[in-house]
Amino acid sequence: LFAAPWEFQTSVTDMAKLPPINANEIAFAGRSNVGKSSLINALTGRKGLARTSSTPGRTQMLNFFVSDGTPVSIVDMPGYGYAQAPKDLVDAWTELVFSYLRGRPSLRRVFLLIDSRHGIKKNDLETMALLDKAAVVYQVVLTKSDKIKPPALKKLIAETKAQLLKRVAAYPEIIATSSEKNLGVDELKAEIARISTL
Ligand code: GTP
Ligand code: MG
Repeated sequence: LFAAPWEFQTSVTDMAKLPPINANEIAFAGRSNVGKSSLINALTGRKGLARTSSTPGRTQMLNFFVSDGTPVSIVDMPGYGYAQAPKDLVDAWTELVFSYLRGRPSLRRVFLLIDSRHGIKKNDLETMALLDKAAVVYQVVLTKSDKIKPPALKKLIAETKAQLLKRVAAYPEIIATSSEKNLGVDELKAEIARISTL
């Protein structure tokens, strides 16, 4: 696993054009700018694989990444919540993301990225409700952990865990990461290795 380089496979703007199902899929979801694309780059060890930007709304399609011999595809998605783009575009992205999350049989896990500085927000709860209803397992991944002090991170992890206990499809373990400092990335890789055998 993770032996061959990760490569871009395809971009999709429309549920009708999804690639045929031939691998388990893992999706990175979360608010705009939370660090989805950056974490995929850290994970794959390829800096420019998924495009990133300090401006929210960088990722505008479902982008699929594959690696030879790895039985799992990684899907980068547009963020929800806010984006610096016209409202009807943002609405279309959100619709695409939610349709994919609730209706893709090969989707094995959603990594739900939460900014360590902000915690779970209202629109994250909406996404969780959708995933609970669709019975799609999601795992919270805290991002940008380099931006807060260790005691604050520890407190956030405990509080977030407590919040997740009440949910139907939430995976109980949280992974704290920093793409900048390469923290939690090996843990995430190990998790993906486990999922790929499901
Ligand atoms: P959208 O595609 O717009 O939804 O955003 P995204 O969730 O893919 O975020 P992206 O990876 O583009 O990162 C957004 C901004 O956060 C960029 O300026 C990144 O450099 C920054 N960023 C991402 N990860 C980290 C991190 O671990 N630490 C710090 N300090 N900054 C980060
Ligand atoms: Mg992105």
